Amino acid sequence: MVAQYNLAEVPSKTVLYNRPATMWRYKEVLPVLEEENIVSLGEGMTPILELKRLQAVYELPNLVLKDESKNPTGSFKARGLSAAVSKAKEFGVNTCIVPTAGNAGGALAAYCAKAGLKAIVVMPRHTPQVFKDECELYGAELILVDGLISDCAKKVAQLKENISCFDISTMKEPYRLEGKKTMGYEIAEQNNWTLPDVILYPTGGGTGLIGMWKAFKEMQQMGWIGDKLPRLYAIQAENCQPVVQTWKGLQPNAKGYVGKPSLANGLAVPNPFAEDMMLKALRESKGQPLAVSDSAMVAAVKEIARKEGLIIAPEGGALWSALLQLVHEGIVQRAEKILLLNTGSGYKYLENIL
Ligand SMILES: Cc1ncc(COP(=O)(O)O)c(C=O)c1O
Repeated sequence: MVAQYNLAEVPSKTVLYNRPATMWRYKEVLPVLEEENIVSLGEGMTPILELKRLQAVYELPNLVLKDESKNPTGSFKARGLSAAVSKAKEFGVNTCIVPTAGNAGGALAAYCAKAGLKAIVVMPRHTPQVFKDECELYGAELILVDGLISDCAKKVAQLKENISCFDISTMKEPYRLEGKKTMGYEIAEQNNWTLPDVILYPTGGGTGLIGMWKAFKEMQQMGWIGDKLPRLYAIQAENCQPVVQTWKGLQPNAKGYVGKPSLANGLAVPNPFAEDMMLKALRESKGQPLAVSDSAMVAAVKEIARKEGLIIAPEGGALWSALLQLVHEGIVQRAEKILLLNTGSGYKYLENIL
């Protein structure tokens, strides 16, 4: 189930110029019908930063990073949950539930607090403490489960038998995807309606990857951008790399894949529901998936902190390590316009990084 719009009726992109710097500036291509239902904490319009010291040291003159850690609750999950909780409010729902690797739970809790809705967050017990604390501070009910997000999803299915609630599991409702797709709109708008050659994105459930691809296609249909689209690279953790394994033909699909926890908790998604849609976006864009070890992620987070003054999430660190591999293998050329999509703040992971 994917949201569709009558794109022929969307006004010209010049309407955007006087709008607030949040993802809701793209409201005509977002699913909320009445503006009064929008639940916003100021998400979106995150900066695209030039990584000047890394550019110089590694001879990557066009390397930039879109910093989603600047979002409310410190990650890009704010976008999807702003959209989904707004829609829950529009539907008159009282309670929302989500299985999460960490960041989506905090974001759901915050947006439900703002909307006056009850949030139930089901999270792996091994998740760093700060992810749990933020849910409790926002007043959510927190349920801890032994295992990965796939085990949390089973718990959600059980709980739903007795509670009436809106299930906001990744890709099982259409609204989070719509929120996340605004990253694609922003990348185009912030680059004067052109796109980079290459985007690296840390991929768990794949909402951002699929969402950006949808955004590019919508913008093409509306004539907002030209024909050329970026190659998408889906970066996974070596400990949990279902999409890489399917891509390589080592399994028919990820349904039976068994993953291990990763320091990048957002990447520990062993059986992504939307695997087919991810594979389609990767094939159409002429990109590929790639896996990175936890130790390489930590080294990358430390290097980016020291050279660029940014404490990014290990999921974002994975991108830098993967990029060096792709450049080394000649898959990405040094002079290409390369965008690393850092999905979250490293502050929540410090207990595991230092
Ligand atoms: C920081 C971070 N990056 C990436 C991901 C993976 O996101 P997606 O499910 O859109 O692939 C997550 C998911 O929890 C995350 O928290």
